Amino acid sequence: MARFYITTPIYYVNDAPHVGHAYCTVNADALARWHRQRGDETFFLTGTDEHGQKVADAAAANGVTPNEWTDRYSARFRAAWDDLNIAYDDYIRTTEPRHAETVQKFLTAIYENGYIYKGSYRGLYCVSCEDYYTSEALVGGNCPVHGRPAVEMEEENWFFKLSAFEDRLLEWYGLHPTATTPDTKRNEAVAFIRGGLRDISITRKSLTWGVGVPWDREQVFYVWYDALVNYLTAIGYGSDQANVEKWWPSVHHLIGKEIIRFHCVWWPAMCMAAGIEPPQHVHVHGWLLVGGQKLSKTMAGEGAVRLTDIAPQSLTADYGVDPVRYYLLRDTPLGTDGDFSLEGIIARYNTDLANNLGNLVARVATVVGSKCGGVAPVCDQSSPLRAEAESAVAASAAAWESFAPHSALEATWRLIGATNAHLEQHAPWKMEPGAEVDKVMGDALEALRIITALIVPAMPGTAQEIWQRLGLSGAVADCALSDVTVWGQFPVGVAVTKGDPLFPRIKTES
Ligand code: MSP
Repeated sequence: MARFYITTPIYYVNDAPHVGHAYCTVNADALARWHRQRGDETFFLTGTDEHGQKVADAAAANGVTPNEWTDRYSARFRAAWDDLNIAYDDYIRTTEPRHAETVQKFLTAIYENGYIYKGSYRGLYCVSCEDYYTSEALVGGNCPVHGRPAVEMEEENWFFKLSAFEDRLLEWYGLHPTATTPDTKRNEAVAFIRGGLRDISITRKSLTWGVGVPWDREQVFYVWYDALVNYLTAIGYGSDQANVEKWWPSVHHLIGKEIIRFHCVWWPAMCMAAGIEPPQHVHVHGWLLVGGQKLSKTMAGEGAVRLTDIAPQSLTADYGVDPVRYYLLRDTPLGTDGDFSLEGIIARYNTDLANNLGNLVARVATVVGSKCGGVAPVCDQSSPLRAEAESAVAASAAAWESFAPHSALEATWRLIGATNAHLEQHAPWKMEPGAEVDKVMGDALEALRIITALIVPAMPGTAQEIWQRLGLSGAVADCALSDVTVWGQFPVGVAVTKGDPLFPRIKTES
């Protein structure tokens, strides 16, 4: 059986969950749901990154202990994901004992393999990135990502011999050209390696909020070194070898573009140093921007729209869970930057959901009710919609497979468009009950049944609602995709119900 292990980055708990975080998590959730539908054994991991200077500072600034702070904020992320109907299989917190144990085992393996040594480090540090910069990389002394001053830090730390992995990493990327996608992002990682790798300081003496270094009681591991290991903690590294062997070869890390270096350079090198295979695939997405700026608190200037002010829950309260999921999946391809706006959500809602999908569901149920006695007529094996359905099924499968939810949904909406066009062309509402109207509606129902299966990863709640209105039994998400998408299965004679509009139009000014 095929396996699919997908991860999101673990989110820092110095801030509340915002739409940028939701973008990544919803995409990972939809990919996991599609793989489950396809019958792959699937494991979806998300969680929170709770150590490091940034989180310790946030707790201190708010007058609470780091433990209180992380409990509170980790719960906020979990609540946001529950609200967005995120079906994760495990939610990891880096403050859990299972994680500290794994980090210590993993780093001890690297230490024992001779890739960790003691040295002194001096450099310019951005606390928001939890990363050092060279002076050339700074913009007027400020961090290029956060626009905040980088501060000079010097410490005696333990170092990881990243420089020893230059050739091996290049060789590995040569042998695994799709290990990082899209290609542009792989090229970025490879260019970074070609530019020369410096050893990195992986422990902190000045901080106590972290996982202790087993061979040096005065130090804790640097937060990124602790965080990356979460992907192994969740599958039992050091405690359940069989489970690691089961899941690790099928891992896919979904990450944002600013953390490529950590995931595509450091992490594979760390894995090599510990004696395990590097992650076989990292997919890199862009940022959601507001007016061209990354939606993050630290970048937002006076009066700017701040993503941290847009809690995912406020959007789901205004527009509904599935419309927000749909917008995040459909509007921005998973690999480029995209513009986030409320106008954009409303446009997608009114056009794709209210006018296209919602209208199709309402029309089909209404006409079946008025012209077919409320029950499903037989569908035609040689309907012209059949070819449309088959092409949508194939195109959407290829798109999900290649981490392109937006194009999977585009293909699905082509079928929705074709089914609406089929109704308009035949105008069954003008026909008298009889064979002709039955034929048109049998085909429309069958197309809609397949559409319903195709929207499961994006809009699981809506899909189940439509499934029930169509009189179909069980959970659509549990139907094997390869069976359910075959044309010609709509059960004749089941009762179709109308229900309230799925997506009442949102009124706009113009
Ligand atoms: N804790 C680290 C990740 C450790 S993984 C071993 C971290 N956390 S983060 O909370 O700052 O960011 C997590 C993810 O959210 C990143 O992949 C980042 O790209 C994503 N996003 C944060 N703001 C974003 C947007 N405005 N748009 C899209 N994604 C963005 O980095």
